[in-house]
Amino acid sequence: VEIQKDEDFRPNFHFTPKNNWMNDPNGMFYFNGYFHLFFQYYPDDNVWGPMHWGHAISSDMISWKEQPIAIYPDEKGYIFSGSAVVDKNNTSGFGKDGKTPIVAMFTYHDPKGEEKGAIDYQSQAIAYSLDEGQTWTKYEANPVIENPGIKDFRDPKVTWDGIHQQWIMVLAAQDKTLFYTSKDLKNWTRQSEFGEGIGAHGGVWECPDFFPMYVEGTDEVKWVLIQSLNPGGYNGGSGTQYFIGDFDGKKFTPVEQMSNLDSNHPYWIDFGKDNYAGVTWANIPEENGRTLFLGWMSNWEYAQKVPTETWRSAMTVARELKLEKMDGKYLISSVPVKELQSYRSKKYKDQNVQIDGLTKIIDAEKIALSSAEIRFEISDLQKTTYQFKLSNLVGDELLFGYDHSNNEFFINRSKVGQTDFSKEFASEISTAPRISTANNLDGTIIIDRTSIELFFDEGKTVMTEIFFPNRPWETLSVQSMDVPFTLNEIEAYQLTFN
Ligand code: FRU
Repeated sequence: VEIQKDEDFRPNFHFTPKNNWMNDPNGMFYFNGYFHLFFQYYPDDNVWGPMHWGHAISSDMISWKEQPIAIYPDEKGYIFSGSAVVDKNNTSGFGKDGKTPIVAMFTYHDPKGEEKGAIDYQSQAIAYSLDEGQTWTKYEANPVIENPGIKDFRDPKVTWDGIHQQWIMVLAAQDKTLFYTSKDLKNWTRQSEFGEGIGAHGGVWECPDFFPMYVEGTDEVKWVLIQSLNPGGYNGGSGTQYFIGDFDGKKFTPVEQMSNLDSNHPYWIDFGKDNYAGVTWANIPEENGRTLFLGWMSNWEYAQKVPTETWRSAMTVARELKLEKMDGKYLISSVPVKELQSYRSKKYKDQNVQIDGLTKIIDAEKIALSSAEIRFEISDLQKTTYQFKLSNLVGDELLFGYDHSNNEFFINRSKVGQTDFSKEFASEISTAPRISTANNLDGTIIIDRTSIELFFDEGKTVMTEIFFPNRPWETLSVQSMDVPFTLNEIEAYQLTFN
């Protein structure tokens, strides 16, 4: 049998560039019916190189159309990660002829400075677009924030702070988050910093995001700081933690949040190995009120070695974040955006399935498992392991599920096709501690050709991982390890894209 390679691995519905290298999502904003996604892009090779901003647009965050490259590197440096905002009131003065300026802020990374051994080779710059993000003009007075002598000084994320009527910007600096404010997007004042003695510090902090959210079902507002770091993620390599707190317009003060981890650790937006540098969309209409997030579905441990040639890396499915409050403590949950549901076609449903040993639930005749959404529910949890298995005729197996004795979710991709391109890829089983204490378990499973996204307990614990099977999945089974159990409900949808 021929084994899968390259284009066989291209996702059905997760964004990938047609050609070559992609990493972080950048400059995400919504305007005039379109969601814009920019991304770290190297158009000349399938590994990281001089960074550009690639561009794609979508009306629903699911079906993407790649656009021409938006921002090119220049003599000041590569165009590293950053953000974009819709400057409706033309605070920047870049607007002309009634056209709304979109203002992007990014990091200039000067490779010549780096080569010379300098430490101040990253600075912050802006550019604007008067044609809805298609073409960009760099501000002539760049950089707008010079490097103060800090190596690793990057990834500005700008947000309109309607509460304090100002632009705010968070920036990653070594293993801290810096907070800035501005009235015009050109002049920035450094206000405070965050990170000492809190959070994970196993690597460099990168790609922060900072925004207010309502606590679900209330009018209480808290501020959320998303902060990626690499390495030092929960299961190794790249990972994204978050902090919840209050903000007085200048300084962020964390409050107690839900966590079942020891140490001074807040929490992870996703416990799997493959969701990094994720940030939220700017300018989502207020009446809609959603906080919409998307991440890079890879990990710096092996991103440049995964077995695709034509392109490298995909984005996660877009997710809606929710701020929940449990016992006076705060927690972010995430679920796939509801727009994904409009791609549902065939449906398969079963109830009260007895699982005694390995039980086949879905095969390719019912639902093709390379493009599926599956929901399940189990009530009356017992102290046993609930294991799901995706398999194919050449013996690949992806194992995932929940071990209730250890209160731990897991994904084991060690038996899935191609793993030997990197020793970090599948040497360990990824785990996530369960935070819900409910006696029933629900989950949503999103499967594409080369990825699985698990949303347990309505998104309170999330795990995202990629894999490279030799053949497409043929069967989904559920397995009881010691005691039999009942799968109370399983609902699977074929997701169909043209
Ligand atoms: C995160 C990151 C950013 C940087 C970009 C460079 O993955 O290292 O900190 O801006 O990638 O491509």
